[in-house]
Amino acid sequence: MWKGRFKVETSNLVQKYGESISFDWRLYPYDIQGSIAHATALQAAGILTKAELLAIRKGLKAIQNEIESGEFKFRTSLEDIHMNIESALTEKIGDAGAKLHTARSRNDQVALDVRLYCRAEANAIHQRLVNLQDALLTLAKKNPEAVIPGYTHLQRGQPVLFAHHLLAYLEMLERDIGRLRDAYQRINHMPLGSGALAGSTIPLNRKLVADLLDFPKITDNSMDAVSDRDFIAELLFVISMIGIHLSRLSEDVILWASAEFNFIELSDAHTTGSSLMPQKKNPDVAELTRGKSGRLVGNLMSLLTTLKGLPMTYNRDLQEDKEPLFDSIETIKMALEVFAEMMAEAKVKAENTAEATADPFLLATDLADYLVLKGVPFRQAHEVIGQLTAYSLSEGIPFQELTDEEWEQFSPAFEKDVRKVLDVGTALKGRKAVGAPSPANVKRQVAKWEKRLENPVGLV
Ligand code: ARG
Repeated sequence: MWKGRFKVETSNLVQKYGESISFDWRLYPYDIQGSIAHATALQAAGILTKAELLAIRKGLKAIQNEIESGEFKFRTSLEDIHMNIESALTEKIGDAGAKLHTARSRNDQVALDVRLYCRAEANAIHQRLVNLQDALLTLAKKNPEAVIPGYTHLQRGQPVLFAHHLLAYLEMLERDIGRLRDAYQRINHMPLGSGALAGSTIPLNRKLVADLLDFPKITDNSMDAVSDRDFIAELLFVISMIGIHLSRLSEDVILWASAEFNFIELSDAHTTGSSLMPQKKNPDVAELTRGKSGRLVGNLMSLLTTLKGLPMTYNRDLQEDKEPLFDSIETIKMALEVFAEMMAEAKVKAENTAEATADPFLLATDLADYLVLKGVPFRQAHEVIGQLTAYSLSEGIPFQELTDEEWEQFSPAFEKDVRKVLDVGTALKGRKAVGAPSPANVKRQVAKWEKRLENPVGLV
């Protein structure tokens, strides 16, 4: 396609080194869609006749069918998806095909294709995020009363509702959706017409192309447009963040499914056995997701490092944007799908979570608050409950079993009603501030999410 000035064939090794068709074939629907829009603009500018435009459209659609049915022969010698399709078109329809690349470079072509791809995939990721939120909400609703220790430093802290713990992930995923929506705005700019770097002397109606492809905005600087990959970096960041949230959820699931915690049972369908230890039931899905999240971050770093230090404008380095992008998109879509399936079917062992939550030390903060309400300054109250905890531990007497005299020994502010504090239900009910896990609050939050997930707003 560019052989005019060359006397010798490209070496086989260079072809093999430089080809991208083995991965950028994924762009074929966008390349075809973009070419049809471009041809329409060429016809409007008088470069193509109506008949030529029709032939191009028909030829490209036939090529799309061939690709989809597996008949199409991708050729490494034609380097990338753009040249594979253009060459097949010209073979099919002759001269009209050879006119298609007028006023276009692969530089603006690939920028367009990747933007169209990112736009479609951002929508696909959005859908899967909502589905996972839905699955987590279902699990929360199946266990509305289950209590679980809330942890800091992986040490038992204070009691919470299990549903509150799960809803925390809905918040994280909602922020991911917000970030996706934000990234989408900058993906959604139409770069075609920027040519190799300086547009073209052939006046094309870029607005027409943007309208045909449903872009609300066209790029304003041709040099920027052919070398901008910010939108990919942003998308890879959003995907990394989703991956990190899934990785944290994975860690919870792995802990909960262990014999030590024994808080949940995953379905057989979402666990694996050991080839050696017959008793094992392993949470591989969660482990794989925790592992894959590392790759997602790696892909982001890979692209950022590729972009750093590139002179204006297009450089072939930019071909290296694709494998990390495709890998991250495919990985996150699968992870979100499999997690939704697994979480919807997880069984919560509410007796075990309740037993762990019955640990009286989880109410130590509530005891301090009790003293505060009796007028003791918090720092002193904290000290008193600390001493009480040490006493309870060394004597082996749980808070509930301390005598009136023992309580009084630690602070005269303690009265008989202190025992009422030592109840998980009371502790939860008292946590009424916005965002805190009182059962009434959690119920309202569940209703909020139900409503929101019923009619999720799309990315635009
Ligand atoms: N396969 C190339 C890429 O992904 C397409 C653009 C090629 N442009 C060029 N000037 N060689 O970046």
